[in-house]
Amino acid sequence: MSGLRFPDGFVWGAATASYQIEGSTEQDGRGPSIWDTFSAVPDAVTDGHTGEVACEHYLRYADDVALMSSLGLDAYRFSIAWPRIQPSGSGPVNSRGLDFYDRLIDELCAAGISPMATLYHWDLPQALQNRGGWAARETAERFAEYAAVVAAKFGDRVRSWFTINEPWCAAFLGYASGDHAPGITAPAQAFAAVHHLLLGHGLAAQAIRAAGAGEVSIALNCTSVRPATDNDEDLAAVEQIDGLSNRIFLEPLLRGEYPDDMLTLAERFTPLWYVKSGDGAIIKQPLDVLGINYYTPTWVRARRNAPGSPAHPGSEGMDFTAPNGPVTEMGWRVDPTGLTDLLLRLHKDYEGLPVMITENGAAYADSAVVDGQVQDVDRIAYLDGHLRAAHAAISAGADLRGYLAWSLMDNFEWAFGYTRRFGIVHVDYATQRRTPKASADWYRKVISQNGLA
Ligand code: FCB
Repeated sequence: MSGLRFPDGFVWGAATASYQIEGSTEQDGRGPSIWDTFSAVPDAVTDGHTGEVACEHYLRYADDVALMSSLGLDAYRFSIAWPRIQPSGSGPVNSRGLDFYDRLIDELCAAGISPMATLYHWDLPQALQNRGGWAARETAERFAEYAAVVAAKFGDRVRSWFTINEPWCAAFLGYASGDHAPGITAPAQAFAAVHHLLLGHGLAAQAIRAAGAGEVSIALNCTSVRPATDNDEDLAAVEQIDGLSNRIFLEPLLRGEYPDDMLTLAERFTPLWYVKSGDGAIIKQPLDVLGINYYTPTWVRARRNAPGSPAHPGSEGMDFTAPNGPVTEMGWRVDPTGLTDLLLRLHKDYEGLPVMITENGAAYADSAVVDGQVQDVDRIAYLDGHLRAAHAAISAGADLRGYLAWSLMDNFEWAFGYTRRFGIVHVDYATQRRTPKASADWYRKVISQNGLA
């Protein structure tokens, strides 16, 4: 196939998150987060893994930036650990926590890599969880205060800000299925959490804008939801799961209102005490770009007596089995057409909305370094297929601004601990040695050509 070129100025980068890579969880005054607490619960995380050491990025950040440089990255999306900045989630600022990000950002700037900061990638200060976490309105208010602190400190060098990473996971895996911290299984709290995460986004967006932020965004894990057949029951199931995965976030963010069907669904679990008048206007802040984290579509069919998925409240009678086909080590079906569909759907439903792919990648069982190499051909095929799918959406009119691979390096994959490897750089956890995989070399070429051969 002849070469595919991306638009001029297309941003190429990679992403990580604080708890997944930093380690040093007790260093320099960092307070405990919900992930420290959760990973200490027996059986919550595979093999009892925790983020205590992770990739030692807190200590090795300079080497890691050098690695990014060697790949030719334009941008690096990292997250700031709120409990390093405010160890108890509010009040006094811990300057040693700020210092770490100060050093990291300087290092990135010196290497000519644009720092993109995510304010919340799931490591909520435990002190705030003790007061209700995201199910409590107060957390959104505290989040805005924290956002103001970091934006004032780093706004001179960080242009691009993401408020919240994947509010769907934070709300529904955290408070409905309990697969993620804080491990709560109460759908009523999950719906309140959705609202407070969105409200926190809106308040934080105002705060970072006031501090002079260049670009304000949020990263959503929207998905293409696909019916098993086009019978009415299956289509109704798709509509509901599309609502819970996509519209419950997109509509308030971009139009200032929840879709009616989602209010009705939430009311099956909780009175809507948490929605106050005026909240819609706060949530709907101008977005310079929308971040999309894409991995796989979701398939749904109606099936009587199916238990449904605890992460999708109200999905009793629905089955989420994907059709046969290739899957990653996460069990996620590989289907790049879901990305094209999603980008074109956003383009159609929210005209003129610029989008950036803020995460995309795959876990494969490539734990062995052989003769200094990791031949991760499956990952290359996954990334290549998804870049072609993204390019197809651009050709059909989508305003896609950039692509960030998940992830720069193997890391703590939440409830799976270190047993799932998403990196384009291999990490040997016993020695902390980094080895760029074949996919890293492949990506370096993609970046230098601004496209695919
Ligand atoms: C996303 C998360 C990210 C990583 C990838 C695999 O949901 O944002 O931290 O775990 O999935």
